[in-house]
Amino acid sequence: MSRLLTYVTLLFILYFTFKYVYSGDEHNKQQTSTTSIAITTTILRPDVSFTTWLDYHLQRAKYIMVHMDDPENTRETIEQICSTRPNVILRNGSQTKPEMTPESRIMLRQQDNVLEAIMYFLDPTHPAAWLVHIDTDELLYEPGGETERSWNHHQEAGSVKFTNHEALPLMEEVDNPFVSCTSFRVSSGGTKHFMAYGNGKAAVRLSSRVAPSGPHAFTGYRGDLYKVPAEEAMVLHYPTPSYERWVAKYKHFGQFGDYWYDDPTVPNKMDFMKRSRDVVQMAVKSGDWTEARAFWDSWVPKQGSSEWREDVEMERVRKYEPLAGLLGAKGQDRLDL
Ligand SMILES: *[C@@H]1O[C@H](CO)[C@@H](O)[C@H](O)[C@H]1NC(C)=O
Repeated sequence: MSRLLTYVTLLFILYFTFKYVYSGDEHNKQQTSTTSIAITTTILRPDVSFTTWLDYHLQRAKYIMVHMDDPENTRETIEQICSTRPNVILRNGSQTKPEMTPESRIMLRQQDNVLEAIMYFLDPTHPAAWLVHIDTDELLYEPGGETERSWNHHQEAGSVKFTNHEALPLMEEVDNPFVSCTSFRVSSGGTKHFMAYGNGKAAVRLSSRVAPSGPHAFTGYRGDLYKVPAEEAMVLHYPTPSYERWVAKYKHFGQFGDYWYDDPTVPNKMDFMKRSRDVVQMAVKSGDWTEARAFWDSWVPKQGSSEWREDVEMERVRKYEPLAGLLGAKGQDRLDL
């Protein structure tokens, strides 16, 4: 009798052990409580690329928190997109500094939004081990996918730095840059010819004193800063993929000053950005877009030119197709292009 009881007890233990081990989230089998990832982002205006962005990152992240920078005008659209994706958490973004020009105030708002995300994912009812802060014009790309050696499995790392590469713009209008842009200027070739930042993006292991330190880094974490090898994980940035998007972006930025946050101690050293401001603002006032167009065209690489061939040969320019592997390997239906 007692032997039977022992067998029954053993069977129960085995059953519950297996049930526990195999109960993991379907598409996140590799992630445990110490390796799970949340992504946080702030969005101004969604376009078709936003659903691609969400579905692409939902393959890797347990949660995505989306802060709306302009909820009054975009709430309905964004709510509609997010409502069919249960692991996406939607929030009104910080509205701090409405009087400041948008290129600077967005960073202050992101600071608030990332802090909110940190608090949210520290809450044990919806916990994540890691938080990644990226924008909706960026893809976190890991060519080999997640393995046991991936950055989020590094137990001694408190924060992680990803290098970033920049999508080369195209002559024609693009609906979905993540699909259309496949050539990138890589940061190892120097960031002199970048149209935007070249100092990478970061993730942090969540703990109580963690805070954002600008859009590219974190402070207050325990452990080391781990610089992820560029071939393992990278941020692909699509800042101004076409003339139309460049014009829209710099119309939105407006007549911003030469200093970030109007602070004379923090000069804006991004020449492409300041020059874009000048030519776009001039065209807005005069109605003559000739000079703006010429400036833009000078930044679009001419495929087949000697300069282009040299960039390719020296590997300053490389091809990446982050969506191709995903579409091929993990079912065509998951991505809503
Ligand atoms: C979010 O923003 C919308 C539109 O501006 C507003 O109607 C709503 O009350 C806000 N929600 C919260 C929780 O603040």
